[in-house]
Amino acid sequence: MQTLPSPGESVTYSGPHYDRAKEAKEFDETKAGVKGLIDSGVAKVPRLFIHPPQNLRDLSSDTDGAATGLKVPIVDMMGYRDSRRRDVVDHLRRASETWGFFQVINHGIPVHVMDGVLEAVKQFHEQPEGVKREWYSRDDAKKFRYYSNGDLFLSKAATWKDSLFFDFPSGELDPEAVPLLCREPVFEYEKHTEKLKRSLSELLSEALGLDSGYLGDIGCMESNRIVNHYYPTCPEPELTLGTINHSDATFLTLLLQNHHGGLQVRHQDRWVDVSPVPGAILANIGDLMRLVSNDKFKSAEHRVLVRRTGPRVSVACFLFPGGKQKSKRYGPIEELLDEDNPPMYRETSFTEYYGYYMSSGNGMNGEPVLPYFKVSESN
Ligand code: OGA
Ligand code: NI
Repeated sequence: MQTLPSPGESVTYSGPHYDRAKEAKEFDETKAGVKGLIDSGVAKVPRLFIHPPQNLRDLSSDTDGAATGLKVPIVDMMGYRDSRRRDVVDHLRRASETWGFFQVINHGIPVHVMDGVLEAVKQFHEQPEGVKREWYSRDDAKKFRYYSNGDLFLSKAATWKDSLFFDFPSGELDPEAVPLLCREPVFEYEKHTEKLKRSLSELLSEALGLDSGYLGDIGCMESNRIVNHYYPTCPEPELTLGTINHSDATFLTLLLQNHHGGLQVRHQDRWVDVSPVPGAILANIGDLMRLVSNDKFKSAEHRVLVRRTGPRVSVACFLFPGGKQKSKRYGPIEELLDEDNPPMYRETSFTEYYGYYMSSGNGMNGEPVLPYFKVSESN
């Protein structure tokens, strides 16, 4: 079995002529984010954001699968409560087993609610710096915060984006903690994602061959964390990334994107564009769902490229256990195991998994974390 890197192990580098930590601190202290750099007229990507060559492979786009013929599956939820339930469950199963990533249409979230949240968070980033600055924070205890690069002081290279973070522990968030501009649209969107989450939880349970209440009963998607990313236009998109390749440390992620594109998913050893489909919500299987499904469902690697046009705006809703269940241990679901399907992973909790993920893995350096939780062949 591979040894786990210790949480907190730093991957930061700095050379004799380059004090990365100092540059990161200076950038952070502007509290103006990447948008601030662009507004100040930078014409070159600062060194802090320049990625090593291994992160910048195959940066070309393949719009609508023109070159590869590969397209992210579309799952139509129309009629999922009655006439089309089996169909929908079958589609979801296939998409989860092959891509781990799919576009959901007819999901019940009104277009004006999706447009409303995208517009509100975009407006937040486009306010004068002085107004935004008061919200800038890296304090985990805050239920709302604005920051650039959650892993600024740990990652090897910063990414070209600014973010807003809304924590809805078990559906609750004090509206007063959120800037007025975003309050109504984000709460409205969250209410709808909550409903969609319940439907998908049932459908995915059935897709695994379990009772429809199974995933709901084990509480694995009780907590919502809504994170908005704002990817400004970039003068040298070949030198940096919006989001480095990673899979999510969630059970499930729901992602709303505007029309700018840039998101890519890894499939059959290629990067495939996730072309925006009007009205669609993207869903992707997270590492922990992959673990409990004993590898039946895949958690796909994905990344975001930046462009000379923009901004790209996305709203991710991360679903994972809430409250006490954060420390509850989850392992491969027993009902899915037999002699031919022995457990492939050991049990872990969200807290443990996320700890490794944030300190050593994925988001930081593109190294997958889930393999560390594999049961060794010799066991
Ligand atoms: C993420 C992510 C994609 C995007 O936040 O985990 O993959 O489009 N975001 O912002
Ligand atoms: Ni992601």
